[in-house]
Amino acid sequence: MSKGFFITFEGGEGAGKSTQIRRLAERLKALGHPVVLTREPGGSPGAEAIRDIVLNGPPERWSAVTETLLMYASRRDHIERVIRPALDAGKVVLCDRFADSTRAYQGAGGQVDTRLIDTLEATVLEGVHPDLTLILDLPVEEGLSRALSRGGGEDRFEAKGAAFHERLRQAFLEIARNEPDRCVVLRADRPPEDVEADIRAAVEPRLERVHG
Ligand code: TMP
Repeated sequence: MSKGFFITFEGGEGAGKSTQIRRLAERLKALGHPVVLTREPGGSPGAEAIRDIVLNGPPERWSAVTETLLMYASRRDHIERVIRPALDAGKVVLCDRFADSTRAYQGAGGQVDTRLIDTLEATVLEGVHPDLTLILDLPVEEGLSRALSRGGGEDRFEAKGAAFHERLRQAFLEIARNEPDRCVVLRADRPPEDVEADIRAAVEPRLERVHG
């Protein structure tokens, strides 16, 4: 049984996850919690190597099934080397994306058979599931234009077109409807301070209950 607390951030492109997750990490550290901040794909040296090959190159470089397998290969390494040891040590793990991203991007966006994703979730995660998932939701057009204005060019997923991104937006909302105890949806088309306040209000009481 892990003693830690596992929080994931999810959402489409340009929703401001990276800013919000950094702010939450600072806040929780200030409150005295031991925090590990990490991301997917990536988060361990092996998983970061997979991140480089899966995100870069032309959109059609990998089929959606191959992407699913690469995401799960990187996720397994990340769990073994970073997430599970941190949870076993009683830490609060904040992860920028996790398994819901595979359901949304490869499942809904890439139309990979749900049975493959169900099987990978059941066998590869070995019981490592988020205690809380914060889904930052915003209209697709706004997210994609925010992501582009960050500079650095489009990655393979940003280049996939509005219909793909609309499918994955709806998939995140459906995950939240199916698992209301785990998931909190936050509108991200608001000032970052307002989103941050809602994130604190969702996280702090839940953490109090387990970490005191
Ligand atoms: P980021 O832009 O939030 O760093 O995420 C990297 C990209 O990887 C983003 O476009 C979403 C994509 N992704 C998937 O397609 N499937 C996954 O399972 C994960 C974790 C990320």
